[in-house]
Amino acid sequence: MLSEKYSKNVNARSVIRDLFEYSKARAAEIGAENVFDFSIGNPSVQPPECVTKVAMEILGGEDPVAVHGYPSAEGIPWVRKAIADELNKRFGESYTEKNIFMTIGAAAAVTCCVRAVSDFGTNDKIITFAPYFPEYMVYAKSAGIRLEVIEADIEQFQINFDALEKAIDRDTRAILINSPNNPSGAVYSEETIRKLGKLLEAKQKEFGRSIYIISDEPYREIVFRGFKVPYVAGIYANTLVCYSYSKAMSIPGERIGYVAFTDRCEDADILLKVLAGAARDLAYVGVPALYQMVVGKSVGQTSDLSIYQENKDILYKGLIDAGYTCVEPGGTFYAFPRSLEPDAVAFCERAKQFELVLVPGNGFGCPGHFRIAFCQPKEKVERSLEKFRLLAESYRK
Ligand SMILES: Cc1ncc(COP(=O)(O)O)c(C=O)c1O
Repeated sequence: MLSEKYSKNVNARSVIRDLFEYSKARAAEIGAENVFDFSIGNPSVQPPECVTKVAMEILGGEDPVAVHGYPSAEGIPWVRKAIADELNKRFGESYTEKNIFMTIGAAAAVTCCVRAVSDFGTNDKIITFAPYFPEYMVYAKSAGIRLEVIEADIEQFQINFDALEKAIDRDTRAILINSPNNPSGAVYSEETIRKLGKLLEAKQKEFGRSIYIISDEPYREIVFRGFKVPYVAGIYANTLVCYSYSKAMSIPGERIGYVAFTDRCEDADILLKVLAGAARDLAYVGVPALYQMVVGKSVGQTSDLSIYQENKDILYKGLIDAGYTCVEPGGTFYAFPRSLEPDAVAFCERAKQFELVLVPGNGFGCPGHFRIAFCQPKEKVERSLEKFRLLAESYRK
């Protein structure tokens, strides 16, 4: 007899996977160039040149036993030091390798942080804001705690401070933020982060214990003209930064990221070991060594991200011209417009008639919206505008 929990999910349908299968089948019928698959957030640009070059150098020149051996649980010390140095240069911090914990992407970084600040099976809770990355619910549930979701501010996708203040209580262990945001593309301003920091400092005093910010930042580098991503850890001491090389370096398949925390963070002296304990519970025993070395030798490099800016400009203007309501994305490669009927699932179903493959906002905790992952070639984004226009027109008939 297999696990009841996992067995009962065998036939559970994943919306994004279904859409992916749908667009593959449709592409076989009418040609991939005629299907506008905006469902998946897979980077569409090449990794920076140094990634292949450095990987080849390591594979060709370093001792294979060292390259392929078990790395230490926290990550390879010189890699962590290289990351620390780069963060110090960019953000004026004073990290050392003791402040960096290597992880299997942002997914593992966030999961380990959720576990590091809470206790299984207690009343502990973490608060996040809709629309949110759906995996957060999985991370919280498997950590045996609650994820409380604050309803979206659909005007700007910023923090609803009144709702947040009411939600924070004695059981609140962390606020989980994601800016630039998947799926809305919203970027929190420095003013917003300062306000959040002040509120949390007051609440820490009121309840006599720390409340962390878990700052999920896989899109930190993908930010558009006119927007700036503040460094959260520089503003609020109890911040656990979760970073990933998946998006800006276009290497999601290599599963590599890190957690960073400053010495100002409460319990910084044991945090590395606590994170390692959480990772061990998940059987994340170390992170693939080759790609630790690759990112360690490629610090500061990103893919050419300019295509996302171009796509955003084309798509955002096209959507507004066609009559859609959309908050302008400040970063990422997603846009999150309002669906043209209240039921976003029905809207995305209708969009298929126009060969547009879109994700309903329901799974992100924000119905009435849909996500467009515009990490696609520019010509495809350009050609899609006519489809979006026809889709909008079909609602006016
Ligand atoms: C907001 C957010 N957090 C975490 C992740 C997981 O990132 P990774 O692939 O690096 O594990 C993603 C991936 O899409 C994401 O969008």
